[in-house]
Amino acid sequence: MNSEMFQVILMLVLAYLLGAIPSGVWIGKGFFHIDIRRHGSGNIGTTNTYRVLGPIAGTIVMAMDISKGAVATLLPVFFGNFTVNALVFGLAAILGHTYSIFDHFKGGKAVATSAGMILAYRPTFFFIAAGIWILIILLTSMVSLASMVAFTITTIATFFINDLFLSILAIILTVFIFYRHRTNIHRILNGTESMVPFGLGNYL
Ligand code: G3P
Repeated sequence: MNSEMFQVILMLVLAYLLGAIPSGVWIGKGFFHIDIRRHGSGNIGTTNTYRVLGPIAGTIVMAMDISKGAVATLLPVFFGNFTVNALVFGLAAILGHTYSIFDHFKGGKAVATSAGMILAYRPTFFFIAAGIWILIILLTSMVSLASMVAFTITTIATFFINDLFLSILAIILTVFIFYRHRTNIHRILNGTESMVPFGLGNYL
């Protein structure tokens, strides 16, 4: 094994461990003595933290989860240039977030950490996704629907630039995000998906 391959493997492990930090669980237990996995949807992400612990905790968890994806994607910048695409390290963080070694290989729904990866790699697409996400939340009051629509449209948008690796990864990630939201999809179709207490969805 040459030294670059060894360093890349170490960085992949580091990216996975970074992504595996269960921000929502640690913030909930550390500051509120509440395990958010036992409340609301049981998810450990921003939406359920907001739902159970309020907007400040939700915002902190969102910032932490976005940072995990962003910092992991920027690891090659910190440790030197490698022939491996930086997105691979972001992907390792997303796997850590969804299948966390600190949470019995369970985890979140991959949205914020994926957004962080995109922020570090192509900030324009992050702002496209964030804009669509906010718009759909304001229209429907459903964060899960907003997350899936935002990733679908952003994936389509990647085809307008010449970055095949990003586009392929975006397709895989979007399919994965739909898979992680399968219980939300059932609830959306049944009309039982929980809503945030703002946006037009509450009035329709
Ligand atoms: O991205 C996660 C969010 O879209 C759904 O979270 O807690 O409503 O299942 P939750």
